[in-house]
Amino acid sequence: MKITITLNGKRIQEEIANDVLLIDFLRAHGCYSVKRGCETSNCGLCTVWMDQKPVLSCSLLCAKCDGHSITTLEGVQKQAEAFAYFMAHEGAEQCGFCSPGLIMNVLAMEQELQAPTMDEIRSYLAGNLCRCTGYMGQMRAIQKYLHRNKEAAHETDQ
Ligand code: FES
Ligand code: FES
Repeated sequence: MKITITLNGKRIQEEIANDVLLIDFLRAHGCYSVKRGCETSNCGLCTVWMDQKPVLSCSLLCAKCDGHSITTLEGVQKQAEAFAYFMAHEGAEQCGFCSPGLIMNVLAMEQELQAPTMDEIRSYLAGNLCRCTGYMGQMRAIQKYLHRNKEAAHETDQ
């Protein structure tokens, strides 16, 4: 079947097999940030956005993305760098394999939720598993990242 997808702002029209998964389509188009973990919708490593909302690309047929816009980490480099600064500062990364999926969900959460509580953050990110860190550094980085504008304003006031 022929599909049209806007990938990171670029329109792609292509003939694909009916059973191609989105993750394979994305990696075949050079989006190597999209990682393969469980392949059963349980780890969040393969998270990308469809029309700005997070989806699990290991469990989504590419055919279903026809006519939609897909964003991967490669398409949000600037925002990702801002969050990565806080991750590095909090020592929140070890092997880093889970980071692309986590970053895509954190950025989506930032767009979706106004001043989320810790419980809301935990619940939003419940599908992002990490085998290395124990999550504490990640949670500190996320909180500091979400409060960065407030803290910067506070420092300017002083
Ligand atoms: S690889 Fe998609 S959720 Fe784990
Ligand atoms: S840092 Fe290794 S899986 Fe998260």
